Amino acid sequence: MLRDGSMEGKVIWVTGGGTGLGKSMVKYFVELGAKVAISGRREEKLIEAAEEISKDNVFPVVCDVRESGQVDAALAQIIEHFGECNGLVNNAAGNFISPTERLSHRAFDIIIDIVLKGSKNCTLSCGKYWIENKIPGNVLNIVTTYAWTGSGFVVPSATAKAGVLAMTRSLAVEWAKYGQRHNAIAPGPFPTKGAWDRLFPKEMSDKMKLETRVPLKRVGEHQELANLAAYLMSDYSSYVNGEVVTIDGGEWLQGAGQFNQMDAITQDEWDILEKIVRSNQKKS
Ligand code: HXC
Ligand code: NAP
Repeated sequence: MLRDGSMEGKVIWVTGGGTGLGKSMVKYFVELGAKVAISGRREEKLIEAAEEISKDNVFPVVCDVRESGQVDAALAQIIEHFGECNGLVNNAAGNFISPTERLSHRAFDIIIDIVLKGSKNCTLSCGKYWIENKIPGNVLNIVTTYAWTGSGFVVPSATAKAGVLAMTRSLAVEWAKYGQRHNAIAPGPFPTKGAWDRLFPKEMSDKMKLETRVPLKRVGEHQELANLAAYLMSDYSSYVNGEVVTIDGGEWLQGAGQFNQMDAITQDEWDILEKIVRSNQKKS
């Protein structure tokens, strides 16, 4: 979508960049000229992704985002390797479906720790480094549409993503004086192994018919999300700050609009309904 070279000079840290949507974003950022550091807990996944995309332009760093010490150390390694770091994509996440009453305290904590605490750890480390070194840093947080609607059966994730969205909007204002931008993307369904194994196992997704929940009647393509992420991480979006951009084919609004389910009514049924409504109008 963007012009060749439009991300030259960008050095971006993508957490969870070794798999799924993170990896797709990394691929496109590198294609556009960026240098990218990718982190995660599984070294083999990171090395595999770096080798597949570009050994020279992708730097794998093992780092558990829940641990602030590991996050500080990872940032130091990235700066040493690339000379600086001027962008951060908080993409790492944990999630699984479960009735909330079946969750232990530890199960709830684990999601909050990866998503909210992890995003906080990376943002605080990068933010302080940018302020100290007068670097106009750029943060992109990957949230979800239920960050503002909430959702049953993924309550820890919804709680954590809502916190990340609040952090996005708060720091967009507080740290704008240092030249920083903080934005978010709220994706709808984009098939990845990580998400599908934990949220839409085949036995259930056959029943749920995911595509029918989306007005555009399809799931998202990774490149569509990568295009949006590249725009927000590039200078083309230099006046966009504190925004959350939804990319879900209209999914969450379909659930929100009170009358949207009337899409299921046929033309013949509408003929009958119209007659009834017109007749009722005359009487009232
Ligand atoms: C209930 C569960 C559970 C389940 C784990 N637990 N799975 N409880 N139902 N299905 C409990 C465990 O019993 C344990 O509690 C606690 O959670 C921690 O589990 P561990 O397996 O020890 O944790 P860990 O090995 O650190 O793994 C973390 C994880 C795992 C989150 C559970 O799934 C993971 O690594 N996920 C990373 C990738 C990921 O989730 N990607 C999907 C992102 S998709 P006890 O009390 O027994 O010790 C996404 C999309 C959103 O966010 C929107 C989609 C449209
Ligand atoms: P994914 O492939 O499972 O990505 C999650 C990544 O996070 C993995 O690379 C994982 O690597 C990393 N991670 C997990 N826990 C970590 C930890 N403690 N420390 C460091 N890294 C950790 O899933 P995805 O679908 O691409 O999700 C990417 C992002 O998009 C997430 O923020 C998710 O909430 C969001 N999202 C996805 C969808 C969708 O439909 N796919 C929809 C809405 C939002 P390791 O396991 O190696 O650590």
